[in-house]
Amino acid sequence: MCGIVAYVGNRDAFPLIIKGLKRLEYRGYDSSGIALLEESQLKIYKKKGKVSELEDQHTGKDRKSTIGIGHTRWATHGEPNDVNAHPHYSNNRKLAIIHNGIIENYATIKQNLIKKGHVFLSDTDTEVLVHFIEDIQQETGNSLEDAVKLALREVVGAYAIVVMSVDHPGQLIAARKGSPLVIGVGENEFFFASDATPIIEYTKDVVYLDDYEVAMIRDGKLTIQNLDNTQTIPYIQKLEMELETIEKGGYEHFMLKEIFEQPRSIGDSMRGRVKADDAHLHLGGLSNYLDKLAEAKRIVIIGCGTSWHAGLVAEYLFEELARINVEVEYASEFRYRNPIIKEKDIVIAISQSGETADTLAAIELAKAKGATIFGVCNVVGSSIARATHAGAYTHAGPEIGVASTKAFTAQVTVLTQIAIAVAKRKGTISEEMYRQLLVELENIPAKVERVLENASTIKEIAYIFTYARNFLYLGRGLNFPVALEGALKLKEISYIHAEGYPAAEMKHGPIALIDEDMPVVFLATKDGSYEKIISNIQEVKARKGRVIAIVTEGDTLIPAMVDFVIEVPKTHEMLTPLLSVIPLQLLSYYIAVMRGRNVDQPRNLAKSVTVE
Ligand code: F6R
Repeated sequence: MCGIVAYVGNRDAFPLIIKGLKRLEYRGYDSSGIALLEESQLKIYKKKGKVSELEDQHTGKDRKSTIGIGHTRWATHGEPNDVNAHPHYSNNRKLAIIHNGIIENYATIKQNLIKKGHVFLSDTDTEVLVHFIEDIQQETGNSLEDAVKLALREVVGAYAIVVMSVDHPGQLIAARKGSPLVIGVGENEFFFASDATPIIEYTKDVVYLDDYEVAMIRDGKLTIQNLDNTQTIPYIQKLEMELETIEKGGYEHFMLKEIFEQPRSIGDSMRGRVKADDAHLHLGGLSNYLDKLAEAKRIVIIGCGTSWHAGLVAEYLFEELARINVEVEYASEFRYRNPIIKEKDIVIAISQSGETADTLAAIELAKAKGATIFGVCNVVGSSIARATHAGAYTHAGPEIGVASTKAFTAQVTVLTQIAIAVAKRKGTISEEMYRQLLVELENIPAKVERVLENASTIKEIAYIFTYARNFLYLGRGLNFPVALEGALKLKEISYIHAEGYPAAEMKHGPIALIDEDMPVVFLATKDGSYEKIISNIQEVKARKGRVIAIVTEGDTLIPAMVDFVIEVPKTHEMLTPLLSVIPLQLLSYYIAVMRGRNVDQPRNLAKSVTVE
C-alpha cells in the first residue's frame, strides 16, 4: 500500500527511482509519480496506472537530476488519477512531498489554509500537509526542517513522508509515524524507501526510522532528531536480504516462485531451532517468555487475513498440545472493542509485513491494558516486530506476491514450534510425542517437495474449473482454517467467489448451493475426522456437486467417491495444514493464470495494509 523511494547522491535519480518503484509494485498501487530538480527547477511528473506508463512518458528524454522523490499511490483520499498522484507541490511550488498514511485532521488544516489564500489542486490530505509546512515556514521564518517538525506536531494520523525543496538542492527531509521508512546509507549517497527492496542492490547498510523521528540529509550527512528536537545517533544495521530473493528467478510470477520456495522457507523457519536427533527445540526470542506462556490462562491471537488463518491453526495446536485456552481475533475487531485482558493472558500478534495498521493498533491497545505481546513476523525490523515485547521471526524471506503463501506456512511452522515448546514445558505432551513431533517437523520440507511434484495434476484440474463462478472449501479440525485460506487465495487472485466452511456446517446453509456447477474442495486427509468428512463428501455427491479432494497418499476410499484427487504425504495430524494448504495455493494460482489475472498484483489489493 503506497510506496516511497527517494534518492540523493551522484547517480541519475530518475532511472534509479523508477526501478525502485517497480520493486515496490507488489505493495499495491494505482498511480505513480516522481519529483526531480532539473535545471534548478522542481519538476513533478505523475501518471495514473503502472510505473511503466510513467516511465514510458519519459523515454528518450534526458532527466538529469541526482536528487528525487518517487511514490506509488494506493488511493485513500480522492480517486486514482494523475492529479491526486504524489508528489504534491506546496502553494509556491518550492516544496514537493511524498506521503504514505493518512492525515486525519487534514480538513481543518485545509480550511485554515484556504482562508489564507492557498489553492489546492488535488483531493488529497498529502497536498494539505505540504502547504501546511510551507505556511509554517513563511509564518515563522524557520528552517524547512523545523517547519516540518512543527507541522508534524499538529498532525493527527499516520505518515511516512519525504520532502524536497528547490531552495535546498542536495537536501531531503523524511519523517515517520506509523508507516515504515528505511534509510539506505551508501558512499556519499542516501536512499529512502518503504522497505529495503529498492535499496538492497546499492547498499546493505540501513537505518530503520522510528516513530516521531525526522531524518535529514544535508551536505552528504545524515542526522536524525525527534519531533521534540532531541538528536539520536543513527543505528546502522546490515540487511540480511539477498538480491535474488526479490527477483523472479526464472518463474513466471513471484507467487509461483514463493509457492515452490516453501521447502526452503519452512526449513529456514526451523533452522537452528529444531534438531530432532537431539530432541532439541529452542526459539531464542521465546526463552525469557516460555514460563509466562506456560503459565498463561489464555492466549489471545490477533492478525488479519492469512495471518488470522495461521492464528486459527495455532488455536488447535495450543489447545490440543499445551492445553491452553485460545481466542483468535481479527485485529480490526479487537481494537475497537473494549477487550478483556486479564493477568496471565498473553497476546500473540501474527503479521507477514509487520506493518498492518489494524494489528499494530491492536498491539498498542493490548499493551496499554498490560498484556505481554509476542510477535510472529516475517519482515525483520518492521513496526510490529519492534512494538512487541518478544517474538520469533518466520524467516520466510521477502514475500513479493500479494497473495500470501510461503509466509503462511512459515507462520504455522513457527507457531507449531512455540506450541510444542510450551507443551513440553508444561508437561502436557509425553516425551515420545515431543520427539515424534520434532521428527515430523523436520520431515515437512521434503514432504512439501512431494506435494509440489503434483503441480501438473493440479494444473489440469485448474484448467477444468477455470470458469467456475463459485467454489466451496470444506475441512474439519486443523483443516478448517486451511479451507478458509484456500478460499481466500482463490478469491483474491482469480476473483472467483469462494467460501470456506467447517465441513459439518454445510448442512446449516451452504448445502443449498450444491448442484452440478458447484466445485467443492474437500480437505480430506486421514486424521481424526476422516470418517466424518467421508459422510460430508457423500452429502455433496448426492446433490451432484463436483468434488476435488485433498487426500493422504495411498487412500483408496475417497478417490473412489470423488471427481478429482490430489495426494499429500502422511504426516502427524498436528502438522497437516503445512501440507494440505500447498495444493490449494497451486490450484488458485493456475486458475488465476488461466483466467488471465494479474496474479502478483491483483486488483484493489495491497501487500502491506498500512491504513485501517
Ligand atoms: C492474503 C493476504 C492478506 C494478509 C493480511 C495481513 O493472501 O496476504 O490477507 O494476510 O493483509 O497482512 P500481514 O500478515 O502483513 O499483517
